[in-house]
Amino acid sequence: MKQKRIPEVMDSPDISPESHHRALAGLAHINSWSNSAGIVWSHIEPLLTSGRTLRVLDVATGGGDVPIALWKLGRHAGGKLEISGCDKSPVAIEHAKVNAEKHGAAIRWFTWNLFTDPVPQGYDVIVSSLFMHHLDSDQAVEFLKQLAAGAASRLIVNDLRRSAGGWLLALSAACVLRSHVVFIDGPRSVRSAYTIPEVAELAARAGLKNTKIEPRFPFRFVMTWSRT
Ligand SMILES: C[S@@+](CC[C@H](N)C(=O)[O-])C[C@H]1O[C@@H](n2cnc3c(N)ncnc32)[C@H](O)[C@@H]1O
Repeated sequence: MKQKRIPEVMDSPDISPESHHRALAGLAHINSWSNSAGIVWSHIEPLLTSGRTLRVLDVATGGGDVPIALWKLGRHAGGKLEISGCDKSPVAIEHAKVNAEKHGAAIRWFTWNLFTDPVPQGYDVIVSSLFMHHLDSDQAVEFLKQLAAGAASRLIVNDLRRSAGGWLLALSAACVLRSHVVFIDGPRSVRSAYTIPEVAELAARAGLKNTKIEPRFPFRFVMTWSRT
C-alpha cells in the first residue's frame, strides 16, 4: 500500500470541542484494544530497577490514556515514576486532565507544539504514541533529531505500520465507535503511516544509532533508542 498523506480532522483548528472529545474517547478504546500502553510499558518496566525516579514524558499525548495507564502500571509494579504529558491542543490537555483526575493519577500536563516550541528537556524517557504518522518524512526526521539531541536519553516510539490489513482493521474499528472523526481519521492514519524499513530510514537520517524497530500486534511498530 502506497503512502498517502491526508491531513487528519483531529489536527484541524476547526474541529468542535464536542467532536474532539468524542474522538479522543474513541481513540482511548482503540488504544485499549491494541494494548498501546502495554507496548510502551514493556520498554519502561525494565528501566525501573535502579530505585531512582524515572522521568517520562508522553509527547502528543491526546486524551492522556497511555500515560494514565503507565502511571497505574508503575504504581502496581511499585516503581518510582514521574509522568508528564503534552500536546498542542488545549482541548486534548483538558480532556487528559479530567481523565487523570478521574483515575487519581498524578501526572503533569502542558501544551506544547512541535513546530513552535522547543523540545522539553529533563526527561529520562520520551514516549511518542500514534504521533509520527502525523508528520511528513522531513518533519519526522527533525522530530527524532530534536528528541535525541538532548531532551532525553531514551525514546520509545509506538505507531501504526502502513498495510492493507491495518487499513481494514482501522475501518472496522472506526465503524463500531460513535465518532465521525475516528471514522475519517482511522483509515487516513494508516495511509499516512510508515513501514518498518521507512522508519529505519528516518532514524538513520536523524542520525540515531542503535535503534531497534520491532513489529507489534496489531499492525503497530515500536522503535526504541537509547543514547548509550
Ligand atoms: C492520533 S493522536 C494520538 C494521541 C495519543 N498519543 C494516543 O496514542 O492516543 C495525535 C495527537 O497529536 C497531537 N499533535 C498533532 N500535531 C502536533 C504538534 N505539532 N505538536 C504537538 N502535538 C501534536 C494532536 O493534537 C493529537 O492529540
